[in-house]
Amino acid sequence: MTMARFHDWKVVVTGGTRGIGRGVVECFLQEGAHVVATYNKNEQEANLLREQLSEYGNHLFLEKFDVSNSQDVKEFYKRYEERWDRLDVLVNNAGITSDQVTALMTDDEWKRVLNINLDGTFFMSRAAIPLMMRNRFGRIIHMSSISGKMGMSGQVNYSATKAAQVAMAQVMAKEVGKKGITVNAVCPGFIETDMIAYMTDEQKRAVLNEIPVRRLGKVSDVANVVTFLALRESAYITGTSIDVSGGLGS
Ligand SMILES: NC(=O)c1ccc[n+]([C@@H]2O[C@H](COP(=O)([O-])OP(=O)(O)OC[C@H]3O[C@@H](n4cnc5c(N)ncnc54)[C@H](OP(=O)(O)O)[C@@H]3O)[C@@H](O)[C@H]2O)c1
Repeated sequence: MTMARFHDWKVVVTGGTRGIGRGVVECFLQEGAHVVATYNKNEQEANLLREQLSEYGNHLFLEKFDVSNSQDVKEFYKRYEERWDRLDVLVNNAGITSDQVTALMTDDEWKRVLNINLDGTFFMSRAAIPLMMRNRFGRIIHMSSISGKMGMSGQVNYSATKAAQVAMAQVMAKEVGKKGITVNAVCPGFIETDMIAYMTDEQKRAVLNEIPVRRLGKVSDVANVVTFLALRESAYITGTSIDVSGGLGS
């Protein structure tokens, strides 16, 4: 019998109720961790998650708040510390798109994406670091995107935030490396979740032609890389980014 690799670890996954985040939550639960899955609005998906993962009982906690709201984030960590005095892994996964070509993008489309993807990553990481330092161990993983490396038409807001998350991993890694904390980014390509549900079959076919492995990504493709980065054995990987894109953008 293999030992659960994350037995009793404390893990927070933002946007953990749907898509990639949900896959990450399941992987950690399967390996013995206690996991907080956060979400913003969609109660239905949160309830579904609670129902479908009920076998994990009190290993799974759900928290509803907006990662782009500094006060909400502070209050979340206050509640968190009332429950646990340690945080082993933070996955900054919550993110949105709001696509439009640069010339037509509104202030609101620009700011909403920056607020959630960028401010959210900053607020969540800023509060996690002191908690991790206390225990001289931690793993912070930003869910970036291949869009942040290659740039995608219509995503000036999104690509900017995703490139910034890679830079934020580099900066934070330098700041906290000597405290036993690693900070990395994961850059998925096109992964089958709600985020790409808008794509028509024709658009998907066009994209597939650009992906060397000729398929869209699965949530598990990404979740496996996140858990790999979280391992104790991954202590010498920090300040970098790993593409999970089937070769797109390479
Ligand atoms: N899918 C892809 O192809 C792809 C590719 C590259 C990178 N990514 C990145 O991977 C991450 C997850 O993507 P996904 O496709 O799994 O997304 P998704 O299916 O749309 O799920 C997004 C999750 O984030 C939560 N969320 C959104 N805004 C939030 C906020 N302000 N505060 C707290 N939580 C919030 C959502 O909560 P609610 O349910 O309450 O709205 C949901 O749980 C994102 O950062 C995305 O940029 C995705």
